[in-house]
Amino acid sequence: VAAARRTSRLTMQAGATLSNVTENVMQRVRMPSGDKLHVRPHHPLCTLRRLIEEYFEQSIGRESGGLQLFTDMPAVVSTTACFDELLVARDHPSRRPTDTYYVDESTVLRAHTTAHDTELLRRGLRCFLVSGDVYRRDAIDRKHYPVFHQVDGVRVFENAPSEDWVLDDLKRTLFGLAQHLFRYPVQDAAVAAADGRVAATDGTATDDNEVPVRWVDAEFPFTRRSLELEVLWQGEWLEVLGCGVLQPDVLRAGNVDPKRASGWAFGLGLERLAMVLFGIPDIRLFWSSDRRFTSQFRDGAITRFRPFSKYPPVYKDISMWVKDAPADADSNGTAAVGFHENDLCELVRSVAGDLVEDITCTDSFVHPKTKRRSNCYRITFRSTERSLTDEEINDMQFRIRDQIAHSMSRVAEL
Ligand code: PHE
Repeated sequence: VAAARRTSRLTMQAGATLSNVTENVMQRVRMPSGDKLHVRPHHPLCTLRRLIEEYFEQSIGRESGGLQLFTDMPAVVSTTACFDELLVARDHPSRRPTDTYYVDESTVLRAHTTAHDTELLRRGLRCFLVSGDVYRRDAIDRKHYPVFHQVDGVRVFENAPSEDWVLDDLKRTLFGLAQHLFRYPVQDAAVAAADGRVAATDGTATDDNEVPVRWVDAEFPFTRRSLELEVLWQGEWLEVLGCGVLQPDVLRAGNVDPKRASGWAFGLGLERLAMVLFGIPDIRLFWSSDRRFTSQFRDGAITRFRPFSKYPPVYKDISMWVKDAPADADSNGTAAVGFHENDLCELVRSVAGDLVEDITCTDSFVHPKTKRRSNCYRITFRSTERSLTDEEINDMQFRIRDQIAHSMSRVAEL
């Protein structure tokens, strides 16, 4: 019945296939693979993905093909890979077109990176991480967006002593991962202290700043003895990942003989973790190309996000002749008589208060005859809580000009 309903919803009368993928979502799918957020330099999702890979590189190692990393498997996958081979029941809610983006009846935008596990097993891989963009139709709020990013991991052992042993290895490995991520030295010690932990200066963790974790029973079609790992973070239990021992039929779909081998798998979402680790309050910010967002992050560093305003800026330019301080002014101990940008900033701040966001020198030239220097400054006004009116900004600009004429007359001339 469910299959029939799906067919009728997705198929037009002429037999042409109707997709429920919107243009907006399709643009994300088609992004050049090097632009995707989980591989974009400096992006928090990229830093977090690298931290995860780094943990496995350190604990398992990439020598002799031990660990393989995949970051650009195509996001368009078959329903076979996404659901059937993972034993997702025909009537499972995740298959519904209300939840999953169908390109056509047998092709979807992957709803999880787990969709690649069986194919990679068939290629003969026994230990790998797959990261990528995943797509789900969902409610809209600060924590949900139709596109997000996941990392999945698989490890298969030939001749493992027992399933208990595999589960122990899984729990030990993922406990280590949680410690690696949540004890990772935050750049700002004050932030670490506020989070109630010690910033390990040498990058190594000590027992006294171990992050508390707990295991919660869970249910996934493709694993048994499934668990979720939660971490105690700022007083709340935060769900970090799902995992379990791979079902024999999943191994079979991957051409692995479950009589001779067994393995574990886990999957985690990058956005929710990055939101808590970097203090990013809204999932849409990850897509921002606003410099005030992008410039805040460096490769490999977990830094605390500083919020900025969503209200529009107002720019005002101001040009002035300035008198440069003599080059030796500081060294001979006399007060430097010359123009200094900090004085201008101070003056603007005293007039505009917190409404000034930025002052940048946009142009500077020296008059060929008089040798006098002219600087142009762009002042950006922006409120963090409302749109500014033209009148108030013009009024402020007049007062700033007035003040410059008054108190900086020795070093600047409008
Ligand atoms: N694919 C699951 C999800 O998206 C996570 C998972 C992966 C759980 C592998 C167990 C094993 O929630």
